[in-house]
Amino acid sequence: MADVYAAIAEAEEAVQERLAAVLERRAADHQQIGMLRAYLADLELPDGAEALEIGCGTGPVSRELATRPGIRRVVGVDPSPVFLATARTLGSSLPHLSFIEGDGRSLPCSDSSFDAVIFHTTLSHVPHPQAALAEAFRTLRPGGILSVFDGNYSSTTLATGDFDPLQACANAAMDALVHDRWLIPRLPGLLREAGFTITGQRNFGFVETAAPDYMLTMVDRGADVLAAAGRIGPELATALKNEARHRIASGSFYGAIAYCSMQAKK
Ligand SMILES: C[S@@+](CC[C@H](N)C(=O)[O-])C[C@H]1O[C@@H](n2cnc3c(N)ncnc32)[C@H](O)[C@@H]1O
Repeated sequence: MADVYAAIAEAEEAVQERLAAVLERRAADHQQIGMLRAYLADLELPDGAEALEIGCGTGPVSRELATRPGIRRVVGVDPSPVFLATARTLGSSLPHLSFIEGDGRSLPCSDSSFDAVIFHTTLSHVPHPQAALAEAFRTLRPGGILSVFDGNYSSTTLATGDFDPLQACANAAMDALVHDRWLIPRLPGLLREAGFTITGQRNFGFVETAAPDYMLTMVDRGADVLAAAGRIGPELATALKNEARHRIASGSFYGAIAYCSMQAKK
């Protein structure tokens, strides 16, 4: 199954609306907020800085950036008009925040017009990320900062031991949700190829145990993907979902995704 974000503008409006709600719910998670604030704090921006978020979705990261002192202008760009409608509504109280429709691989922005470009859980969803990084390089001013934050989805786990059947759900869910699960391990090479100099890196872990929310949706999504592909029958899909709930009830559930932020200079 293909990553729906990779061709988001072609998805049905109802699907984009459902995903808009998912994005806002994820952005409100305290672990996600912690990771975002930690890596944004690393950005040393000049006074009056202008920042661009490529793949802004409904705009939670752009809104956070726009509240930083010293920021003069934040622009969010995304191919989904549905996400952008929500972004404009939720960001309407921030006068120096604006949103434009566009593809990160051919941006409607002039050369050398931003001090910072950010990809927040976007680059792993973009087929041919080299083109998006080339556009980030083009639109950054000399000395401008690129910040890429993404999941290292190749290491997503729902397992508590070798050959844990729930791991099949994690792998299937990631395959369906993310265009390139290996983006983070490949990112240093991609950044250098695009002409950037890497200046910093931070590693994070998103872990859910006692009352899982997002990681439980990974179990259900993975089981459904495996069943829809005919890899398992509906009984096993139900059994896998039940297994996750038994683990939650017995206090033995574990689900984790590693995240990484990488900073580079033009
Ligand atoms: C997982 S969402 C992240 C959204 C937002 N950055 C956030 O953290 O809430 C991935 C985003 O990438 C966007 N996207 C997908 N392909 C893109 C492309 N070619 N150029 C720019 N954005 C793209 C999607 O529309 C979606 O908003």
